[in-house]
Amino acid sequence: MRDILPPESGRWRHFTDVFADVVERAGYGQLITPLLEDLGVFTRIGDATDVVTKEMYDFVDKGDRHIALRPEMTASVCRAFAEHRPTPPWKIWYSGSNFRYEKPQRGRYRQFDQVGVEVLGADDPYLDVEVIALAWEFYARLGLQQVSLIVNSLGEPADRARYVEALRDHFTSAGDTLSEQSRETLGRNPLRVLDSKREVDQTHIAAAPQIAEFYSDGAAAHFNAVLAGLRALDIPFTVEPKLVRGLDYYRRTIFEFQGGTLDSAQNALGGGGRYDGLVAALGGPETPGVGFALGLERTLLACDDELVFGAAPVGLDAFVVDVTGGLQAAAITAELRAAGFGTDRGYDNRSMKAQMKLANRSGARFALIVGDDELAAGTVVVKPMYGEGDQVAVARSEISAHLASLSDQNRREP
Ligand code: HAM
Repeated sequence: MRDILPPESGRWRHFTDVFADVVERAGYGQLITPLLEDLGVFTRIGDATDVVTKEMYDFVDKGDRHIALRPEMTASVCRAFAEHRPTPPWKIWYSGSNFRYEKPQRGRYRQFDQVGVEVLGADDPYLDVEVIALAWEFYARLGLQQVSLIVNSLGEPADRARYVEALRDHFTSAGDTLSEQSRETLGRNPLRVLDSKREVDQTHIAAAPQIAEFYSDGAAAHFNAVLAGLRALDIPFTVEPKLVRGLDYYRRTIFEFQGGTLDSAQNALGGGGRYDGLVAALGGPETPGVGFALGLERTLLACDDELVFGAAPVGLDAFVVDVTGGLQAAAITAELRAAGFGTDRGYDNRSMKAQMKLANRSGARFALIVGDDELAAGTVVVKPMYGEGDQVAVARSEISAHLASLSDQNRREP
């Protein structure tokens, strides 16, 4: 878990603002859910996933309730849908922190942030396309150019069940030639054996049955419609039959966005898919659902690597340097802030030199200087910090109008 300091924290907020802008224009409203839920909400994600069995921050509260910090948000969204029964299709977006007790490394943290969307109550394959297109647009808005999209379908639950059995048979017949870890995974979740990166497992994985052989007609038609929709929108993708995703609730479409530059273990910038049974598992009506979540930290690391979406400058207009005691600075900053100018100041009646250093560091466009002479004359010296003309003395009462005349561009609305 980490502290996020300025200016990086400003970048986080900007990230979420851009995401909100993209998805709200597509009709998605923001849902805010609690950071914790009854443990049972998250165990519905599936007891064959590490997220639930090994990584949950769960505890018993003072009222003897077994609760957990959310490891992801899709389950909370489905719980909220089951509870409030909004009119479908319910199109929502979210942002916030999640908690997983993982082994921390670059791009993998115990507290991490996601932004995401979910749509509940519509089965339309072009909705799968819509959510993918929104993520795609968001990456473009960040300036990322090396993200790739991989897609797969896990079929209907019955298709998936038959496939899982076929995989179980296939990997069981490999006996001891399969790695010990994969043999252990096989007992819990044969699908996840396909994720193994171990050398000894690769020939068995390459020879494994393919999910497409198990699709029912309905599942095949749904998936083909998704692929046709992606082509129609010119979104490049690769069908990856071995993509399985780490959570158990998926049915039919699944997808992942991979960065071009992160280590392969952490290169999933985001992912999602359909989870048509989750609302019902949480006590609601049978409801189809589709969505995705994007990891904020990993996406920003990808931005760093591609040299895009840097921290925005603070954007101060003025920095007040007052060496007459500080009362002038207090009054001028209050006046300018109220007029919509980003304004900071020096404190503790420090020397001119020390305050000018702060003014420089602040990035402000103008230093407003009040010394004894200015105080006596009722003026303020306006000194451009980026070579925009000479410094001038301006009447104290005219300072706000003067700044306005210099720059209408950087001015914020009061
Ligand atoms: P997920 O693949 O578990 O899916 O997480 C989505 C993204 O969150 C990952 O691709 C990654 O960028 C980021 N992430 C996950 N764990 C960590 C971590 N420990 N540290 C940093 N980043 C991390 C879900 O969470 C699903 N709820 C997505 C979804 C929404 N499916 C349908 N709707």
